[in-house]
Amino acid sequence: MEPNTHKLIHSFGALADLGQEVADTGDFMEMVRTSLHLLLGTLAIRRGAVIECPVHLLPGDKSTNLLAVWGLGEDYQPRFDIEESDREAFLNPAKDAWRISSDINQPGVEIFFGLYQTELRSQGIELIVPMVVRGDLTGLVLLGGKASGEPFSPDDIEVLRAMVRHIGVGIHTHRLLAEVKQRAEENERLYQDLRAIYRDTVRAFAAAIDVKDTYTQGHSERVGKYSEIIARELGWGENEVEGIAIAGYLHDIGKLAVERRIINAPYKIDAKESSELNRHPAAGFDILSPIHHPYADIPLMARYHHERLDGRGYPDGLTDTQIPLGAKIVSLADSFDAMTTDRPYKTRRTFDEVVHDLRRNTGSQFEPQVVAAFCRALLKELNGETKERKFLKMLGKNYLDAEKDAPLLRELLNELDPNTQAAAAGGTA
Ligand SMILES: [Fe+2]
Repeated sequence: MEPNTHKLIHSFGALADLGQEVADTGDFMEMVRTSLHLLLGTLAIRRGAVIECPVHLLPGDKSTNLLAVWGLGEDYQPRFDIEESDREAFLNPAKDAWRISSDINQPGVEIFFGLYQTELRSQGIELIVPMVVRGDLTGLVLLGGKASGEPFSPDDIEVLRAMVRHIGVGIHTHRLLAEVKQRAEENERLYQDLRAIYRDTVRAFAAAIDVKDTYTQGHSERVGKYSEIIARELGWGENEVEGIAIAGYLHDIGKLAVERRIINAPYKIDAKESSELNRHPAAGFDILSPIHHPYADIPLMARYHHERLDGRGYPDGLTDTQIPLGAKIVSLADSFDAMTTDRPYKTRRTFDEVVHDLRRNTGSQFEPQVVAAFCRALLKELNGETKERKFLKMLGKNYLDAEKDAPLLRELLNELDPNTQAAAAGGTA
Protein backbone atom coordinates (compact mmCIF):
# COMPACT_ATOMS: atom_id res chain seq x y z
CA MET A 1 0.00 0.00 0.00
CA GLU A 2 1.24 3.50 -0.85
CA PRO A 3 2.31 5.42 2.24
CA ASN A 4 -0.10 8.22 1.32
CA THR A 5 -3.02 5.82 1.01
CA HIS A 6 -2.13 4.34 4.38
CA LYS A 7 -2.12 7.77 5.97
CA LEU A 8 -5.42 8.62 4.34
CA ILE A 9 -7.14 5.53 5.67
CA HIS A 10 -5.75 6.26 9.12
CA SER A 11 -7.07 9.84 9.00
CA PHE A 12 -10.53 8.78 7.90
CA GLY A 13 -10.70 6.22 10.70
CA ALA A 14 -9.76 8.88 13.22
CA LEU A 15 -12.42 11.24 11.81
CA ALA A 16 -15.07 8.55 12.12
CA ASP A 17 -14.14 8.15 15.80
CA LEU A 18 -14.45 11.90 16.26
CA GLY A 19 -17.92 11.82 14.73
CA GLN A 20 -18.97 9.43 17.45
CA GLU A 21 -17.47 11.66 20.09
CA VAL A 22 -19.63 14.53 18.89
CA ALA A 23 -22.72 12.38 19.12
CA ASP A 24 -21.81 11.72 22.76
CA THR A 25 -21.77 15.53 23.27
CA GLY A 26 -18.09 15.47 24.13
CA ASP A 27 -16.06 18.66 23.89
CA PHE A 28 -17.27 20.05 20.57
CA MET A 29 -14.56 22.69 20.07
CA GLU A 30 -11.89 20.10 20.88
CA MET A 31 -13.43 17.78 18.29
CA VAL A 32 -13.24 20.50 15.61
CA ARG A 33 -9.65 21.36 16.55
CA THR A 34 -8.58 17.72 16.38
CA SER A 35 -10.38 17.28 13.07
CA LEU A 36 -8.53 20.27 11.63
CA HIS A 37 -5.18 18.82 12.77
CA LEU A 38 -6.03 15.50 11.16
CA LEU A 39 -7.02 17.20 7.94
CA LEU A 40 -3.87 19.34 7.83
CA GLY A 41 -1.70 16.35 8.75
CA THR A 42 -3.13 14.16 6.01
CA LEU A 43 -1.88 16.42 3.22
CA ALA A 44 0.95 18.06 5.16
CA ILE A 45 -0.64 21.51 5.08
CA ARG A 46 0.90 24.09 7.41
CA ARG A 47 -2.03 26.29 8.30
CA GLY A 48 -5.77 26.37 8.26
CA ALA A 49 -9.00 27.35 9.99
CA VAL A 50 -12.53 26.01 10.37
CA ILE A 51 -15.19 28.68 10.11
CA GLU A 52 -18.85 28.16 10.95
CA CYS A 53 -21.46 29.94 8.82
CA PRO A 54 -24.64 31.28 10.40
CA VAL A 55 -27.65 28.98 10.15
CA HIS A 56 -29.82 31.74 8.69
CA LEU A 57 -28.47 34.69 6.77
CA LEU A 58 -30.27 37.51 8.51
CA PRO A 59 -29.57 41.16 7.69
CA GLY A 60 -28.08 41.82 11.13
CA ASP A 61 -26.52 38.40 11.62
CA LYS A 62 -24.56 37.08 8.68
CA SER A 63 -21.15 36.87 10.34
CA THR A 64 -19.19 33.66 10.48
CA ASN A 65 -17.83 32.17 13.67
CA LEU A 66 -14.28 30.85 14.08
CA LEU A 67 -14.24 27.30 15.46
CA ALA A 68 -10.62 26.22 15.09
CA VAL A 69 -7.39 27.67 13.79
CA TRP A 70 -3.87 26.34 13.24
CA GLY A 71 -0.68 27.99 12.08
CA LEU A 72 -2.12 31.43 11.30
CA GLY A 73 -1.08 34.76 12.83
CA GLU A 74 -1.28 34.65 16.59
CA ASP A 75 -4.06 37.18 16.92
CA TYR A 76 -5.78 36.39 13.67
CA GLN A 77 -9.49 35.76 14.28
CA PRO A 78 -11.04 35.43 10.81
CA ARG A 79 -14.61 36.67 10.70
CA PHE A 80 -16.51 37.20 7.48
CA ASP A 81 -19.86 38.53 6.41
CA ILE A 82 -21.48 36.06 4.03
CA GLU A 83 -23.88 37.58 1.53
CA GLU A 84 -26.61 35.54 -0.14
CA SER A 85 -24.71 35.59 -3.49
CA ASP A 86 -21.55 34.26 -1.75
CA ARG A 87 -23.56 31.52 -0.12
CA GLU A 88 -25.05 30.41 -3.44
CA ALA A 89 -21.65 30.38 -5.10
CA PHE A 90 -20.10 28.33 -2.27
CA LEU A 91 -22.99 25.88 -2.51
CA ASN A 92 -22.42 25.28 -6.23
CA PRO A 93 -21.76 21.52 -6.47
CA ALA A 94 -19.72 21.94 -9.62
CA LYS A 95 -17.09 23.92 -7.73
CA ASP A 96 -15.35 21.80 -5.09
CA ALA A 97 -12.78 24.30 -3.82
CA TRP A 98 -11.82 27.92 -4.38
CA ARG A 99 -8.23 28.86 -5.10
CA ILE A 100 -7.28 32.38 -4.04
CA SER A 101 -4.79 32.56 -6.89
CA SER A 102 -7.20 31.89 -9.71
CA ASP A 103 -10.85 31.76 -8.61
CA ILE A 104 -11.49 35.09 -6.98
CA ASN A 105 -12.99 36.68 -10.07
CA GLN A 106 -15.53 33.91 -10.63
CA PRO A 107 -19.13 35.11 -10.75
CA GLY A 108 -20.99 35.03 -7.44
CA VAL A 109 -18.01 35.51 -5.11
CA GLU A 110 -17.07 39.06 -6.11
CA ILE A 111 -18.29 40.54 -2.83
CA PHE A 112 -16.57 37.97 -0.62
CA PHE A 113 -13.19 38.05 -2.30
CA GLY A 114 -13.46 41.78 -2.92
CA LEU A 115 -13.65 42.25 0.83
CA TYR A 116 -11.30 39.55 2.07
CA GLN A 117 -8.74 38.51 -0.56
CA THR A 118 -6.00 40.80 0.77
CA GLU A 119 -6.52 39.56 4.32
CA LEU A 120 -6.55 35.92 3.18
CA ARG A 121 -3.41 36.28 1.08
CA SER A 122 -1.54 37.99 3.91
CA GLN A 123 -2.33 34.97 6.13
CA GLY A 124 -1.01 32.56 3.51
CA ILE A 125 -4.42 31.06 2.74
CA GLU A 126 -4.48 29.42 -0.67
CA LEU A 127 -7.63 27.37 -0.74
CA ILE A 128 -11.20 27.62 0.58
CA VAL A 129 -13.25 24.42 0.82
CA PRO A 130 -16.98 24.99 1.42
CA MET A 131 -18.55 22.71 4.00
CA VAL A 132 -21.92 21.63 2.67
CA VAL A 133 -24.29 19.47 4.71
CA ARG A 134 -27.82 18.67 3.56
CA GLY A 135 -27.67 21.33 0.88
CA ASP A 136 -26.77 24.05 3.36
CA LEU A 137 -23.52 25.98 3.83
CA THR A 138 -22.44 24.88 7.30
CA GLY A 139 -19.00 26.46 7.11
CA LEU A 140 -15.78 27.12 5.27
CA VAL A 141 -12.37 25.53 5.73
CA LEU A 142 -9.46 27.86 4.97
CA LEU A 143 -6.22 26.14 4.01
CA GLY A 144 -2.65 27.24 3.37
CA GLY A 145 -0.41 25.53 0.82
CA LYS A 146 1.21 22.11 1.19
CA ALA A 147 4.53 22.02 3.03
CA SER A 148 6.14 20.49 -0.05
CA GLY A 149 5.21 23.56 -2.09
CA GLU A 150 3.44 21.34 -4.64
CA PRO A 151 0.06 22.49 -5.88
CA PHE A 152 -3.09 20.67 -4.76
CA SER A 153 -3.87 17.83 -7.16
CA PRO A 154 -7.45 16.87 -8.12
CA ASP A 155 -7.04 13.82 -5.82
CA ASP A 156 -5.97 16.08 -2.95
CA ILE A 157 -9.06 18.22 -3.45
CA GLU A 158 -11.29 15.16 -3.45
CA VAL A 159 -9.79 13.94 -0.18
CA LEU A 160 -10.15 17.42 1.33
CA ARG A 161 -13.81 17.63 0.25
CA ALA A 162 -14.60 14.31 1.86
CA MET A 163 -12.84 15.19 5.12
CA VAL A 164 -14.43 18.65 5.26
CA ARG A 165 -17.83 17.12 4.70
CA HIS A 166 -17.17 14.76 7.58
CA ILE A 167 -16.30 17.66 9.89
CA GLY A 168 -19.43 19.43 8.61
CA VAL A 169 -21.61 16.52 9.66
CA GLY A 170 -20.07 16.77 13.15
CA ILE A 171 -20.87 20.49 13.33
CA HIS A 172 -24.36 19.90 11.98
CA THR A 173 -25.02 17.18 14.58
CA HIS A 174 -23.73 19.45 17.31
CA ARG A 175 -26.09 22.23 16.18
CA LEU A 176 -29.03 19.83 16.17
CA LEU A 177 -28.19 18.65 19.69
CA ALA A 178 -27.83 22.25 20.88
CA GLU A 179 -31.20 23.10 19.35
CA VAL A 180 -32.90 20.11 20.96
CA LYS A 181 -31.34 21.05 24.30
CA GLN A 182 -32.51 24.65 23.94
CA ARG A 183 -36.05 23.52 23.09
CA ALA A 184 -36.06 21.17 26.07
CA GLU A 185 -34.91 24.02 28.33
CA GLU A 186 -37.61 26.30 26.93
CA ASN A 187 -40.22 23.62 27.52
CA GLU A 188 -38.94 23.11 31.06
CA ARG A 189 -39.18 26.87 31.69
CA LEU A 190 -42.72 27.00 30.32
CA TYR A 191 -43.67 23.99 32.42
CA GLN A 192 -42.21 25.60 35.56
CA ASP A 193 -44.10 28.84 34.77
CA LEU A 194 -47.33 26.88 34.42
CA ARG A 195 -46.71 25.11 37.70
CA ALA A 196 -46.03 28.42 39.42
CA ILE A 197 -49.31 29.80 38.04
CA TYR A 198 -51.08 26.66 39.25
CA ARG A 199 -49.56 26.97 42.73
CA ASP A 200 -50.47 30.66 42.95
CA THR A 201 -54.02 29.84 41.89
CA VAL A 202 -54.21 27.11 44.53
CA ARG A 203 -52.98 29.55 47.20
CA ALA A 204 -55.61 32.05 46.11
CA PHE A 205 -58.28 29.34 46.42
CA ALA A 206 -57.01 28.33 49.85
CA ALA A 207 -57.20 31.94 50.97
CA ALA A 208 -60.76 32.18 49.57
CA ILE A 209 -61.78 29.05 51.51
CA ASP A 210 -60.28 30.35 54.74
CA VAL A 211 -61.83 33.79 54.35
CA LYS A 212 -65.23 32.14 54.25
CA ASP A 213 -64.45 30.32 57.48
CA THR A 214 -63.82 33.22 59.86
CA TYR A 215 -62.74 31.05 62.78
CA THR A 216 -60.09 28.97 61.06
CA GLN A 217 -57.86 31.54 59.41
CA GLY A 218 -54.92 29.89 57.69
CA HIS A 219 -56.36 26.39 58.21
CA SER A 220 -55.95 25.27 54.59
CA GLU A 221 -52.39 26.48 54.41
CA ARG A 222 -51.46 24.75 57.66
CA VAL A 223 -53.10 21.49 56.54
CA GLY A 224 -51.02 21.75 53.34
CA LYS A 225 -47.85 22.22 55.38
CA TYR A 226 -48.57 19.43 57.88
CA SER A 227 -49.40 17.09 54.98
CA GLU A 228 -46.11 17.99 53.33
CA ILE A 229 -44.16 17.27 56.52
CA ILE A 230 -45.81 13.85 56.93
CA ALA A 231 -45.31 12.84 53.28
CA ARG A 232 -41.66 13.86 53.41
CA GLU A 233 -41.19 11.86 56.62
CA LEU A 234 -42.75 8.87 54.85
CA GLY A 235 -40.04 9.16 52.20
CA TRP A 236 -42.21 10.41 49.36
CA GLY A 237 -40.50 11.95 46.30
CA GLU A 238 -40.36 15.71 45.84
CA ASN A 239 -43.14 15.78 43.25
CA GLU A 240 -45.51 13.72 45.40
CA VAL A 241 -44.71 15.91 48.39
CA GLU A 242 -45.63 18.99 46.35
CA GLY A 243 -48.83 17.24 45.30
CA ILE A 244 -49.91 16.41 48.85
CA ALA A 245 -49.26 20.00 49.93
CA ILE A 246 -51.60 21.14 47.14
CA ALA A 247 -54.18 18.57 48.25
CA GLY A 248 -53.91 20.00 51.77
CA TYR A 249 -54.43 23.54 50.50
CA LEU A 250 -57.51 22.45 48.58
CA HIS A 251 -59.04 19.79 50.83
CA ASP A 252 -61.87 22.05 52.06
CA ILE A 253 -62.57 23.76 48.74
CA GLY A 254 -66.06 22.20 48.82
CA LYS A 255 -66.87 24.57 51.71
CA LEU A 256 -67.26 27.24 49.05
CA ALA A 257 -70.50 25.44 48.20
CA VAL A 258 -71.72 25.37 51.84
CA GLU A 259 -73.67 28.22 53.46
CA ARG A 260 -71.44 30.64 55.30
CA ARG A 261 -73.92 30.67 58.23
CA ILE A 262 -73.29 26.96 58.89
CA ILE A 263 -69.53 27.15 58.50
CA ASN A 264 -69.34 30.07 60.94
CA ALA A 265 -72.00 28.90 63.43
CA PRO A 266 -70.79 30.01 66.90
CA TYR A 267 -72.37 26.90 68.44
CA LYS A 268 -72.33 23.15 67.90
CA ILE A 269 -74.36 22.66 64.71
CA ASP A 270 -77.43 20.40 64.62
CA ALA A 271 -77.84 17.23 62.55
CA LYS A 272 -79.38 18.98 59.54
CA GLU A 273 -76.67 21.63 59.45
CA SER A 274 -74.10 18.94 59.98
CA SER A 275 -75.26 16.96 56.95
CA GLU A 276 -75.13 20.19 54.91
CA LEU A 277 -71.57 20.80 56.09
CA ASN A 278 -70.65 17.18 55.37
CA ARG A 279 -71.40 17.73 51.71
CA HIS A 280 -68.12 19.61 51.38
CA PRO A 281 -65.78 16.67 50.55
CA ALA A 282 -67.98 15.48 47.66
CA ALA A 283 -68.55 19.08 46.55
CA GLY A 284 -64.78 19.59 46.62
CA PHE A 285 -64.32 16.52 44.44
CA ASP A 286 -66.83 17.91 41.93
CA ILE A 287 -65.07 21.29 41.86
CA LEU A 288 -61.59 19.80 41.45
CA SER A 289 -62.32 16.94 39.04
CA PRO A 290 -62.64 18.95 35.81
CA ILE A 291 -59.27 20.61 36.42
CA HIS A 292 -56.13 19.06 34.96
CA HIS A 293 -53.80 18.99 37.97
CA PRO A 294 -50.04 18.53 37.53
CA TYR A 295 -50.17 16.08 40.47
CA ALA A 296 -52.04 12.82 40.88
CA ASP A 297 -55.29 12.28 42.80
CA ILE A 298 -55.90 15.82 44.13
CA PRO A 299 -59.72 15.54 43.74
CA LEU A 300 -59.73 12.14 45.50
CA MET A 301 -57.76 13.44 48.46
CA ALA A 302 -60.36 16.20 48.89
CA ARG A 303 -63.19 13.69 48.63
CA TYR A 304 -61.77 11.23 51.15
CA HIS A 305 -60.25 13.52 53.79
CA HIS A 306 -63.12 12.74 56.23
CA GLU A 307 -63.07 8.98 55.63
CA ARG A 308 -62.02 6.74 58.55
CA LEU A 309 -60.27 3.36 58.66
CA ASP A 310 -63.26 1.85 60.51
CA GLY A 311 -65.70 2.87 57.77
CA ARG A 312 -67.54 5.44 59.90
CA GLY A 313 -66.36 8.41 57.88
CA TYR A 314 -68.00 10.22 54.99
CA PRO A 315 -69.02 10.71 52.21
CA ASP A 316 -68.49 7.10 51.00
CA GLY A 317 -67.90 5.16 54.23
CA LEU A 318 -64.72 3.60 52.83
CA THR A 319 -62.57 1.36 55.01
CA ASP A 320 -58.82 1.13 55.59
CA THR A 321 -57.37 -0.22 52.33
CA GLN A 322 -59.95 1.56 50.19
CA ILE A 323 -58.70 4.96 51.35
CA PRO A 324 -55.68 6.32 49.47
CA LEU A 325 -52.65 7.03 51.65
CA GLY A 326 -52.70 10.68 50.55
CA ALA A 327 -56.23 11.13 51.90
CA LYS A 328 -55.15 9.53 55.18
CA ILE A 329 -52.32 12.06 55.45
CA VAL A 330 -54.58 15.04 54.74
CA SER A 331 -57.11 13.64 57.23
CA LEU A 332 -54.57 13.56 60.06
CA ALA A 333 -53.19 16.99 59.13
CA ASP A 334 -56.74 18.37 59.09
CA SER A 335 -57.64 16.86 62.48
CA PHE A 336 -54.38 17.93 64.09
CA ASP A 337 -54.94 21.54 62.99
CA ALA A 338 -58.56 21.41 64.18
CA MET A 339 -57.40 20.16 67.60
CA THR A 340 -54.65 22.74 67.96
CA THR A 341 -56.56 25.87 66.93
CA ASP A 342 -59.32 27.69 68.77
CA ARG A 343 -62.83 27.11 67.41
CA PRO A 344 -65.92 29.23 68.09
CA TYR A 345 -67.27 26.80 70.65
CA LYS A 346 -64.07 25.43 72.14
CA THR A 347 -60.50 26.47 72.78
CA ARG A 348 -57.62 24.42 71.44
CA ARG A 349 -56.50 21.30 73.22
CA THR A 350 -53.28 20.98 75.14
CA PHE A 351 -50.58 18.84 73.60
CA ASP A 352 -51.24 16.11 76.22
CA GLU A 353 -54.84 15.97 75.08
CA VAL A 354 -53.82 15.85 71.42
CA VAL A 355 -51.49 12.90 72.03
CA HIS A 356 -54.27 11.22 73.98
CA ASP A 357 -56.66 11.77 71.08
CA LEU A 358 -54.18 10.43 68.55
CA ARG A 359 -53.59 7.32 70.70
CA ARG A 360 -57.32 6.71 71.07
CA ASN A 361 -58.14 7.18 67.37
CA THR A 362 -55.18 5.57 65.66
CA GLY A 363 -56.34 2.38 63.96
CA SER A 364 -59.99 3.46 63.91
CA GLN A 365 -59.82 6.96 62.46
CA PHE A 366 -56.14 7.47 61.64
CA GLU A 367 -53.67 5.27 59.81
CA PRO A 368 -50.93 4.10 62.23
CA GLN A 369 -48.01 4.63 59.84
CA VAL A 370 -49.23 8.18 59.12
CA VAL A 371 -49.52 8.98 62.83
CA ALA A 372 -46.06 7.48 63.38
CA ALA A 373 -44.55 9.59 60.59
CA PHE A 374 -46.19 12.69 62.04
CA CYS A 375 -44.83 11.93 65.53
CA ARG A 376 -41.35 11.23 64.17
CA ALA A 377 -41.27 14.56 62.28
CA LEU A 378 -42.44 16.49 65.32
CA LEU A 379 -40.02 14.66 67.61
CA LYS A 380 -37.14 15.50 65.26
CA GLU A 381 -38.04 19.17 65.51
CA LEU A 382 -38.32 19.00 69.32
CA ASN A 383 -34.93 17.25 69.44
CA GLY A 384 -33.41 20.09 67.40
CA GLU A 385 -32.59 17.77 64.50
CA THR A 386 -34.27 19.97 61.90
CA LYS A 387 -33.10 23.38 60.74
CA GLU A 388 -36.54 24.82 60.19
CA ARG A 389 -39.00 25.13 63.05
CA LYS A 390 -42.11 24.38 61.03
CA PHE A 391 -44.32 23.15 63.88
CA LEU A 392 -43.23 26.01 66.09
CA LYS A 393 -44.23 28.51 63.40
CA MET A 394 -47.68 26.99 63.03
CA LEU A 395 -48.41 26.23 66.66
CA GLY A 396 -47.03 29.40 68.17
CA LYS A 397 -44.23 29.91 70.70
CA ASN A 398 -45.74 28.63 73.91
CA TYR A 399 -47.64 25.59 72.73
CA LEU A 400 -44.92 22.94 72.68
CA ASP A 401 -42.51 22.12 75.49
CA ALA A 402 -39.71 19.87 74.26
CA GLU A 403 -38.88 18.49 77.69
CA LYS A 404 -42.43 17.51 78.47
CA ASP A 405 -43.70 16.64 74.98
CA ALA A 406 -40.83 14.65 73.48
CA PRO A 407 -41.31 11.74 75.96
CA LEU A 408 -45.04 11.69 75.13
CA LEU A 409 -44.25 11.34 71.45
CA ARG A 410 -41.64 8.64 72.05
CA GLU A 411 -44.11 6.71 74.14
CA LEU A 412 -46.76 6.88 71.44
CA LEU A 413 -44.24 5.90 68.78
CA ASN A 414 -43.19 2.88 70.79
CA GLU A 415 -46.78 1.78 71.12
CA LEU A 416 -47.32 2.13 67.37
CA ASP A 417 -44.23 0.13 66.54
CA PRO A 418 -41.95 -0.73 69.45
CA ASN A 419 -39.15 -1.99 67.18
CA THR A 420 -38.41 0.89 64.93
CA GLN A 421 -40.32 4.11 65.38
CA ALA A 422 -38.67 5.83 68.30
CA ALA A 423 -35.25 4.58 67.23
CA ALA A 424 -35.80 6.07 63.76
CA ALA A 425 -36.60 9.41 65.36
CA GLY A 426 -33.31 9.35 67.23
CA GLY A 427 -34.85 9.11 70.70
CA THR A 428 -34.87 6.66 73.55
CA ALA A 429 -38.01 5.29 75.14
FE1 LIG B 1 -62.95 19.14 55.79
